[in-house]
Formats: sequence, C-alpha cells, structure tokens
Amino acid sequence: MIIRKGQIFDLKSVINIEKNAYDKPYWNESMLKRLFNKDSNEIIWITEIKQQIVGFLIEQRCDDEINLLNLAIDKSFQNRGIGGEMVSCFLSIIPNNSCVFLEVKKNNFIARKIYSNLNFKDIDIRKNYYNDGSDAFIMQYKKYL
Ligand SMILES: CC(C)(COP(=O)(O)OP(=O)(O)OC[C@H]1O[C@@H](n2cnc3c(N)ncnc32)[C@H](O)[C@@H]1OP(=O)(O)O)[C@@H](O)C(=O)NCCC(=O)NCCS
Repeated sequence: MIIRKGQIFDLKSVINIEKNAYDKPYWNESMLKRLFNKDSNEIIWITEIKQQIVGFLIEQRCDDEINLLNLAIDKSFQNRGIGGEMVSCFLSIIPNNSCVFLEVKKNNFIARKIYSNLNFKDIDIRKNYYNDGSDAFIMQYKKYL
C-alpha cells in the first residue's frame, strides 16, 4: 500500500469512491476538482494498492493546525484495515507539533474506532451538525514529541 499526493488524473477515481463510500456524498465533482489546483490550501492524499486507487484523505492546513476534511475507502476495499493504515500513515507524515481536528458523525462507529485507535480524543460535540439532524463529535490529535 502506498500513499501519495493526488494528481488531476486521479479525479475520476476519487469521484467514484466518494459516490460509492457515502450514502449521501457531500463533495461534488467541482469541489473535488478544486483540490487539484496548485494554489489550493487543501491537499488530497491517495492510497493505492497494486496501482489501484482504493481511498483518499483530504486535509486543510493552517500553520500547525490541520483539519481532516474527508476520508473515504472504496466500498469493495472496506473493513480490511486500509482506512486505519491510511490515517496512521498520514499522521506519520505531518509535521511534529501539529494538531489535527476532525468532525465525525456520532453514529459513524467505524470511523470513530479508527480515530480512537490512533489516539484522537473527543473534545466537543456539535449538536444537529449534519443535514439528517445527527450530532458531530469533534476529535483532536496532538502530534507532540
Ligand atoms: C470509515 C472508513 C474510511 C473506514 O475504512 P475501512 O478501511 O473500512 O476501516 P478499517 O478496516 O481500517 O477499520 C475499521 C475499524 O472499525 C471496526 N469496526 C468495523 N465495524 C464496526 C462497527 N459496526 N462498530 C464499531 N467498529 C467497527 C473494525 O473492527 C476496525 O477496527 P480495528 O482495527 O480496531 O479492528 C470507510 O468505512 C468509509 O469510507 N466510510 C464512508 C466514509 C466515511 O464515513 N468516512 C469517515 C468520515 S469522518
């Protein structure tokens, strides 16, 4: 498994994964396309296994604060440890002394398991955050040596 920065030629696979991983995808084609602009402060990371794109992670950096905006693994590759490995790899490449924040649906037990396994902590709740009325947990990971 490798992780690399996304390139414009990955766009089609990224759109497909966003559509098949989520019941109600939030990121549409134009939002995803913008990520590949050189001046974007959002970065998309791609996971490949045997040259097949199986997942992606989107982050936004502001100095030492990083927001993890999206993580998705192709439906047919889920539950094989790839999502956990991807986040773990991402945490290993971010700078020391940075802090990662994310929002995750309260009932997204699989994603929450990945994050808690990797030492993300629940720090707050946003009530009725999602369109379906569900709450979001805000989680934080501190990479301090
Ligand atoms: C969330 C997502 C990225 C996980 O990727 P994945 O590769 O399937 O996850 P992994 O196989 O690495 O890890 C799954 C973990 O959840 C656990 N798990 C599986 N089903 C579970 C359940 N019903 N309840 C709780 N934990 C569960 C697994 O045991 C595993 O934990 P472990 O490593 O401690 O055994 C993937 O399901 C996905 O793309 N979902 C749709 C998009 C999404 O929700 N993204 C997260 C946005 S915050």
